[in-house]
Amino acid sequence: MENNKKGLFITFEGIDGCGKTTQIELLEKYLNSKNYKTIVTLEPGSTQIGKKLRQILLHHEGFVSDRAELFMYLADRAQHIEEIVMPNINNGKIVLCDRHTDSTLAYQGYARGGNIEQLQILNSIATSDLKPDITFLFDIDIQTAQKRLGAIKDRLEASGYDFYQKVRNGYLSLSKKFPERIKVIDASLTPEDVSEQVKTIIDTVL
Ligand code: TMP
Repeated sequence: MENNKKGLFITFEGIDGCGKTTQIELLEKYLNSKNYKTIVTLEPGSTQIGKKLRQILLHHEGFVSDRAELFMYLADRAQHIEEIVMPNINNGKIVLCDRHTDSTLAYQGYARGGNIEQLQILNSIATSDLKPDITFLFDIDIQTAQKRLGAIKDRLEASGYDFYQKVRNGYLSLSKKFPERIKVIDASLTPEDVSEQVKTIIDTVL
């Protein structure tokens, strides 16, 4: 833990259908059993402003420009960091955040073709330079993930195989760029086995 922070900031990343929501619940239970105070939050959509942005981002019918999409994710993030993430870290909590800056790099960058260096600068502005202490990347093949999603898909989930292949490869590139922070988890195993991988890593951070 860094000196100027009281809590921890943990983020969870992966393609849609990778199972991260289940894993966040399991990790929260584990941390609470060890008497750590936690808060689970997500991007986009944890603040009042974020909920409106999420509705547009995932359910708007009709044309959404790539840049408009990007800036809505960034606006959600800026509000989220200031309203929820920072205050809770300063309060000594472990903040468990379902998606964060790496989603923008993987989806708007590697998959949509946005410039990664520019996106990193925009992410830094949106987060006021706050970085996750650790990031779990749940890696899984596209077919298995798509099966887990079922038939009803939102605007992003309906993007198709090639898009998700780029998102997945983008995430894996990020994990090679930032190996200290991003821990790759094999998400094709049973939820219990995936959770064991997560717990083993978190125990080294606590
Ligand atoms: P989820 O909350 O169900 O995971 O859905 C969020 C969707 O938004 C998911 O398809 C990933 C996408 N997304 C981006 O494209 N960029 C971002 O910066 C974030 C946070 C999410």
